[in-house]
Amino acid sequence: MNFDEPTTSFSSDTVNLTLLRQRAFNLRWAEVDSDVIPLTAADPDFPVAPPIIEAITAHVSDGVLGYGPTRGLVEFREAVSSFLEVGGVPSHPDQVLATDGAASALWASCRAVLAAGDEAITFDPVDFLLPHCCEVAGASVVRCPLEPITGAIPEGALEQLIGPRTRAILLCNPHNPTGRVLRRDELQRVAALAVKHDLRIISDEVWGDIILGDVPMIHIASLGEEVASRTIIVSGFSKTYGLAGLRIGFIHSGSRLLADQVLEASGAPRTTFGASVVSQVAAVTALRDCQQWRGEFLQHLRRLRKSGAARLDALDGFHCIEPEGTYLFFPEIRETGLEASALAAELEAKARVAVVPGEERWFGAGAVGHIRISFATSDEILDEALSRIERWNETR
Ligand SMILES: Cc1ncc(COP(=O)(O)O)c(C=O)c1O
Repeated sequence: MNFDEPTTSFSSDTVNLTLLRQRAFNLRWAEVDSDVIPLTAADPDFPVAPPIIEAITAHVSDGVLGYGPTRGLVEFREAVSSFLEVGGVPSHPDQVLATDGAASALWASCRAVLAAGDEAITFDPVDFLLPHCCEVAGASVVRCPLEPITGAIPEGALEQLIGPRTRAILLCNPHNPTGRVLRRDELQRVAALAVKHDLRIISDEVWGDIILGDVPMIHIASLGEEVASRTIIVSGFSKTYGLAGLRIGFIHSGSRLLADQVLEASGAPRTTFGASVVSQVAAVTALRDCQQWRGEFLQHLRRLRKSGAARLDALDGFHCIEPEGTYLFFPEIRETGLEASALAAELEAKARVAVVPGEERWFGAGAVGHIRISFATSDEILDEALSRIERWNETR
């Protein structure tokens, strides 16, 4: 593949700004002033793959839209199970639960394995959803600071945090916001600790398909039976396939026992929770018929990450490395002399570009001194946003 050539499905004319301004919420086009470019919540600006549009249109036009099975459509659970098997995870469709998004999958998984008085370990920084879902389940959160710059898990750091009340470790791989793809040896260390201390692992792999560099995605549950059986994988279809509005994700539990606990905690058996059938049809199509589209999306992102990281790194006081996974830049901005929230406010007010400040409430104290910039947009929009930031940098 030639990563320097723009790809047609992801060219600028595919981005429909009129519709995005009506429909893209969660800090994005529909929630900012009309002249602001929102590189905020991680949600692609591109329309979904054509096979997904065809599949859900056909399903809806049949006119039968009743309840689906409690754990999800058989074809959904089979498609997810096959996808995980390809990644080396021992899997069975009966261990898959369809959920209304990865966030909801995290919530149900935490409820399944955590209770009041328990402790859960996660990282700092990390997306707020991981600690939030632990707390909602009643547990207290212990954070393991990641290495500055690389985002690696420091050797020996995790074990010191494990105590008598620790029940689970929550991973995010690839990592939001650092963009790091966890290495085999890091995952092996986490796995060994989980086995030694009888902990569950909740692995958020919603970014698992967005691998942009040479470091391969390794599912921690692929590292052997002992770790697989204690791992819950949560994932979804918002990041790779742009299906955030369909609210669709899944939980894969490493054993039948864990799958039963997750099912019970989810509320699905009493219909208080559950994924829409139309959304499951979209997800099955994504996994089975959209792999070429996904390859083109990755090709597009690889080009943008290279040029975007270089331009951000060249700004006064910014240090930006290319993310190995995700479509998130996470530059360190301390040397600008501005706090992240002040910098984000300046960028929005003066450059008319919205970014996510590295505030404790979004990612933990470890994100302070950074901003997060999503680049799942067209060359033209990212170029315009970066040019505006460059002009702001020159004149301040
Ligand atoms: C690490 C992580 N987990 C979960 C989610 C939520 O995904 P979903 O839209 O499928 O609920 C996100 C979205 O940004 C995320 O970055």
